[in-house]
Amino acid sequence: MTENFLTLGIETSCDETSASVVRGSREVLSSIVASQFDLHSKYGGVVPELACRRHLEIIEKVVQSSFDEAKVTDDDINLVAVVHGPGLIGALLIGVMFAKAYAVSSGKPLIGLNHLEAHLYSTVMSHEKIAFPAIGLIVSGGHTSLYYMPENGKYKLLGSTVDDAVGESFDKVASLLGLPYPGGPNIEQSARTGDAEKVKFPLGMIKKKSYNFSYAGLKTAVLYHVKGHGKAKTDANIIAENEKKDIAAGFQQAALTVLANKAFKAAEEFGAKSILVGGGVARNNALRELFEKKSLKKGVRAYFPRPELCTDNAAMVAGLGYIKYMKDPSSSGFDFDADPNIRSLK
Ligand code: KG4
Ligand code: ZN
Repeated sequence: MTENFLTLGIETSCDETSASVVRGSREVLSSIVASQFDLHSKYGGVVPELACRRHLEIIEKVVQSSFDEAKVTDDDINLVAVVHGPGLIGALLIGVMFAKAYAVSSGKPLIGLNHLEAHLYSTVMSHEKIAFPAIGLIVSGGHTSLYYMPENGKYKLLGSTVDDAVGESFDKVASLLGLPYPGGPNIEQSARTGDAEKVKFPLGMIKKKSYNFSYAGLKTAVLYHVKGHGKAKTDANIIAENEKKDIAAGFQQAALTVLANKAFKAAEEFGAKSILVGGGVARNNALRELFEKKSLKKGVRAYFPRPELCTDNAAMVAGLGYIKYMKDPSSSGFDFDADPNIRSLK
């Protein structure tokens, strides 16, 4: 029965309206991601009111496209899975209300999921076998958190950012350098031909024993470097292109090194066999290379999601929905918990 079990996933927690049909736990039949870059880029960040209106406008079309691409109809769907937090509450409500209405009118079971857990599941979904215990690292635009995972589906929070998230710092530094939104991919591109050795930035909370992170200081250090300490103010458009690339490379190295150091340190302390990295920043190739290098040295394997499953998408939601529902069909239900951390899950 499970082989043909199809889950419709819906994700609207921030600025992507996404729907996906997944067979079983990992076979993606369709994944539609309608990004809103066009809408928010001139503001340099997501404007919640605009994001919500766009979700409302297109959600029905996005879900229909996910059915068309998967070549399925309403009758084929066995479960509806939707992200109910954390995220922008107005944006979440649109996905949740659509999913509820759809589930009720079509008589399907419905399950509400945590966005961060879905990000970690995107890594599990991308690899056949992962050894546990593991360390889970979420690196997204809204979160930077480290978890101990004694087994798949169990989480103990070890630390998280005390200020900005790592993806947020990529976006803010990109804006300081005059690079377009979203900043992550543009910083990565710019850093590729820059020299990180030429501009060194501080590594946030690297010496602290805790597993918390901090990115506000790094962002401010870049700001001071770009604008000049107490000197006559310069701005991004009069910095030479080469120097911008060096700044991007120096920033990226500092931002990523902290992630790798803390994740591998936690792996050692907790005797983890694997490290699972999920979230938008997991798309960054410099991060992947850094973890690969450390993996070889430390003998702990690092796993990343397939590139298309890194940034927000509904395929990870549908896959996780299937796993949770199969474990406990009575688990469907909702709360509107805005707690940014995955709480202990049974
Ligand atoms: O997971 P995600 O799509 O949304 C949240 O849940 O926040 O992550 C979006 C974040 C943005 O900050 C974006 O700049 C960053 O992921 N990002 C990257 C890359 N691609 C996306 N950061 C660094 N390098 C990338 N290639
Ligand atoms: Zn996300």
